[in-house]
Amino acid sequence: MKTVHTIAELRAAIAEARSARQRIGFVPTMGNLHSGHMALIARAAQHAEFIVSSVFVNPLQFGPNEDLASYPRTLAADQEKLAAAGCHLLFAPSVEEMYPDGQDNQTRVSVAGVSAGLCGGSRPGHFDGVATVVSKLFNMVQPDTAVFGQKDYQQLAVIRTMVRDLNMPVQIVGEPTVRAEDGLALSSRNGYLSEQERAQAPVLYRTLQGLARAIEGGRRDYPALLDEGLDALRGAGLRPDYLEVRDALALGPASPDSPELVFLVAAYLGRTRLIDNLVVRQTARG
Ligand code: PAF
Repeated sequence: MKTVHTIAELRAAIAEARSARQRIGFVPTMGNLHSGHMALIARAAQHAEFIVSSVFVNPLQFGPNEDLASYPRTLAADQEKLAAAGCHLLFAPSVEEMYPDGQDNQTRVSVAGVSAGLCGGSRPGHFDGVATVVSKLFNMVQPDTAVFGQKDYQQLAVIRTMVRDLNMPVQIVGEPTVRAEDGLALSSRNGYLSEQERAQAPVLYRTLQGLARAIEGGRRDYPALLDEGLDALRGAGLRPDYLEVRDALALGPASPDSPELVFLVAAYLGRTRLIDNLVVRQTARG
């Protein structure tokens, strides 16, 4: 696997792959890679012959009091994992390479509607930062297919909407969340958890599973269900940021007519903010 740090080198390597008539599969990341990311690479390899990944901790998507400075930067280990997973090209640019005129002077991409509320409500500007960096990366890599984790459910919806609204010629593929044996969704931020917090964390997924079972059992009293979920999270020592249920397709309001719902949660364990989600089918009641 080749690692490049500049846009010029990236474009040259991609041009070579294109001239060999290879399709380009792309997995953008912020590094500190785990098996969830490796599943994204494996999925990209089902769609393309030449796999490109990027590692860039994008300052534009972090709020002033968030973990930009402490976000784990582990490039050497990431390179080894990507090479072993079959990635062909890694783009690891500096902040100056990505934002040469400074972040304040960067043209922004803002995706209406789907960026509002949930994480967009708690982290103002976050999805503008994501949409901006992903559209820059798409313009640099020009992938046929790009793969994103479903763990960041709202992010995936934002990117799908951006690609549709801006007519970007990229197929977006969502890859199911990879979980630890106890159900905790893999995340680079799990590394912040103390031993005790790590033991508490699986309650997030257990709570979502409980809510999904209630829907499958026929309950449609969403506000009461969410209150029960919030109680379960607080009872286990978490500080919920939000717990919501939405229509799974467009992230609009949940209704008994929605074929699929998604429960979405963000909660703090100590200083660590974790997110998760679970999609559930709502079969018609007979
Ligand atoms: O999901 C992530 O790791 C980031 O938000 C992404 C898509 C790489 C953009 O910085």
